[in-house]
Amino acid sequence: MDAFIEGWVAVHGDGRDQLLPLLHAVQEEAGYIDDALVPAIARALNLSRADVHGVVTFYHDFRRTAPGRHVVKLCRAESCQARGGAAIEVEAAQRLGVAMGDTRADGQVSLEPVYCLGLCAIGPNALVDGRPVARIDAAALDRIALEVAA
Ligand code: FES
Repeated sequence: MDAFIEGWVAVHGDGRDQLLPLLHAVQEEAGYIDDALVPAIARALNLSRADVHGVVTFYHDFRRTAPGRHVVKLCRAESCQARGGAAIEVEAAQRLGVAMGDTRADGQVSLEPVYCLGLCAIGPNALVDGRPVARIDAAALDRIALEVAA
């Protein structure tokens, strides 16, 4: 990944304002931001390791461990919670066999929170491998469980 980081900075620049775009690019490329990459990212942008670590840990969007082959994100924002999101989360964890915020031991699926997908009127909502799924109910969870089993 060091070569990827150096190449990215050569194209996009090494200003401090490039930290978020570079972190997104690293995550897009590697699937997550390994703690071992923090020194290289800091060096590339002339930042301290603490600066980079602080940003990586502050934003929910940055993943610090490898994701499962499938990623299911459930909306935890207000409107989806008012539409039964908490109960859906409990049911999803049972059906997918993984706790919220975790990756199943076989690496098949990760279950993660997300905070509003802009589909509030048709919640509770999820993202399944980046695809929005609205009106999550027991039947939808069954379909998602089948999808991520593949
Ligand atoms: S609150 Fe869930 S999509 Fe907006």
